[in-house]
Amino acid sequence: MTEFQQKLENKKVLVTGGAGFIGSNLCETLINLNTKVVCLDNFATGHRHNLDAIKDNENFQLIEGDIRNLETCHKACKNVDYVLHEAALGSVPRSLADPITSNEVNISGFLNMLVAARDAGVKRFVYAASSSTYGDSEKLPKVEDEIGKPLSPYAITKYVNELYADIFQDAYKLDTIGLRYFNVFGRKQDPNGAYAAVIPKFVMKFMNHESPVINGDGTYSRDFTYIDNVLQMNLLALTTDNADAINEVYNTAVGERTNLVELTKLLKKHLSEFDPEIAKVEVKHGPKRAGDIPHSLASVEKAENLLGYDASHRIDEGLKEAIAWYWGNLKP
Ligand SMILES: NC(=O)c1ccc[n+]([C@@H]2O[C@H](COP(=O)([O-])OP(=O)(O)OC[C@H]3O[C@@H](n4cnc5c(N)ncnc54)[C@H](O)[C@@H]3O)[C@@H](O)[C@H]2O)c1
Repeated sequence: MTEFQQKLENKKVLVTGGAGFIGSNLCETLINLNTKVVCLDNFATGHRHNLDAIKDNENFQLIEGDIRNLETCHKACKNVDYVLHEAALGSVPRSLADPITSNEVNISGFLNMLVAARDAGVKRFVYAASSSTYGDSEKLPKVEDEIGKPLSPYAITKYVNELYADIFQDAYKLDTIGLRYFNVFGRKQDPNGAYAAVIPKFVMKFMNHESPVINGDGTYSRDFTYIDNVLQMNLLALTTDNADAINEVYNTAVGERTNLVELTKLLKKHLSEFDPEIAKVEVKHGPKRAGDIPHSLASVEKAENLLGYDASHRIDEGLKEAIAWYWGNLKP
């Protein structure tokens, strides 16, 4: 039995946003550890099919509801040991198009969840923070205590989450850990819709022999982080016994950056193994996008030192696995 299994077996974990990309991977991981899982989701951007593998498991419960409703949050937190709060409206462009809804879900919904977790006596509240909190800070690599000015409504919402989490520890002794995710990718990430993330969007384009469009000249870079690294960070945050590790925020990344031109080359390399024609598909360039940070690269030292984090996948290994999944599951 693994240490995670020992610590989480028979515990009850609420995963908000559990039908989404990261949330559904978390639900599945926890079910495989014999943990009892409650998933709260309103399917705004998540999908029922993400839960197919676990929906009939006796340890799994789905609550269809909205974190903007405090009563729903109270119901979901009942008898729960831990919360993994993933529910939010992601995407910088979405928040620029509709800042009010992003604010309601990402800030008011977050606050509802903190209140419900506090009232239910939850032992630990681990939440999805974001690398967007680094804003206009040009310093690389990003270290947790040096942030800049937010560049989008989305970034503001994620920063406010950290401020609220801090207050809930000070005022109510609710233990929290924030995980600042850096461009996560992997199985079950949605390739469709106006706000799809770059990797699944480009994979689908290449699979259809269509040219993906890079915003700008392709020199913008990101610390692309495979889902398994994110799952590890969540399990470490849930189970750590290190008192110094609690009530902190952590970069959740690999500590390497790849620019968009390099990324498309890697995608073509791996996809060409399934379909050699993809090597011939050209990439196009469009205008830069508002609110985008030029470069993003994490220091993961804090996570390594305080949580014992050890990234299992670098970008190339992650892309290989993710592409095999997309090919097996979503090839048109
Ligand atoms: N994917 C990334 O690269 C990344 C990076 C930084 C932070 N994050 C954060 O990680 C979390 C998960 O992101 P994801 O990529 O899995 O996105 P996702 O859109 O796949 O998942 C979000 C889930 O939350 C649910 N949800 C949205 N509004 C809700 C509401 N009002 N009530 C209940 N459920 C609601 C959605 O239906 C969806 O299932 C989010 O908080 C996001 O901001 C993600």
